[in-house]
Amino acid sequence: MTALLEPETVQLASLEGRSVSAWFGDHKVLDRVDLVMPAGQVTALIGPSGCGKSTFLRILNRMHELVPSASLAGEVLLDGEDIYAPQRRLTEARRDIGMVFQKPNPFPAMSIYDNVLAGLKLTGRKAGRDEKDVLVESCLSKAGLWNEVRTRLRQPGGGLSGGQQQRLCIARSLAVQPKVLLMDEPCSALDPTSTRRIEETIHELKREVTIVIVTHNMQQAARVSDVCAFFLAEQGQPGHIVEQGSTQQVFEAPEDPRTFDYVNGRFG
Ligand SMILES: Nc1ncnc2c1ncn2[C@@H]1O[C@H](COP(=O)(O)OP(=O)(O)OP(=O)(O)O)[C@@H](O)[C@H]1O
Ligand SMILES: [Mg+2]
Repeated sequence: MTALLEPETVQLASLEGRSVSAWFGDHKVLDRVDLVMPAGQVTALIGPSGCGKSTFLRILNRMHELVPSASLAGEVLLDGEDIYAPQRRLTEARRDIGMVFQKPNPFPAMSIYDNVLAGLKLTGRKAGRDEKDVLVESCLSKAGLWNEVRTRLRQPGGGLSGGQQQRLCIARSLAVQPKVLLMDEPCSALDPTSTRRIEETIHELKREVTIVIVTHNMQQAARVSDVCAFFLAEQGQPGHIVEQGSTQQVFEAPEDPRTFDYVNGRFG
């Protein structure tokens, strides 16, 4: 089981949505979204409530299909390979493409240590005691939490602060060595200090994992992302991307007046 801990043989992966459309029943909520999320960079998805950001994110790791009425069209390519290809397994996509949610969701009664390793059971990986210790330390360090919890690894995850719980969830996602980490408003339930901490973590992590983050906080999008996509659903129309590009361009020299208004806080 050395594969679990092979030192930093990190291969950065790109993710690409091609003509992605989505429906809940017959309600179309996304229309032909094309977006490249470059390897080793942070892509921010921004836009008003209801424009389909979370739906798009869930399509990127095959969680959308869990909703009974949900359907989709298009392709999602992880390093050029469609995660929806018939021969690709659902569990493979979920392992390669991790997700962190708005509300921190550690297993509250489970120890901090076991929380970090919780994903390994789901992927069927086994590891010896020493390997586990090393993995727990490395994931907690990457998530920026190690120094705060190293002396209480056996205490329950639910005993941590909200910001610490969110970093624990990031550590848990990292333990299965994903190629991409999706984050849906990961800081919206957190105070400014914890938010900063997570932003620093994101900054560190992009060296080894491609990140896609949804945020309503424009300063955050500007601070953490390299690439930015502005989604909009106008007057009952399905959501689509109005503008995408380097974060600097989208924020400082947007081409579309709607992007300008949104990033300057004039609506949404
Ligand atoms: N499970 C569901 N069943 C039916 N409709 C849904 C479901 N989830 C989302 N929708 C609809 O899909 C559209 C897009 O929702 P989504 O949650 O992707 O938006 P969002 O951009 O993430 O919004 P927010 O910023 O508020 O999180 C909305 O019209 C929403 O009502
Ligand atoms: Mg959302």
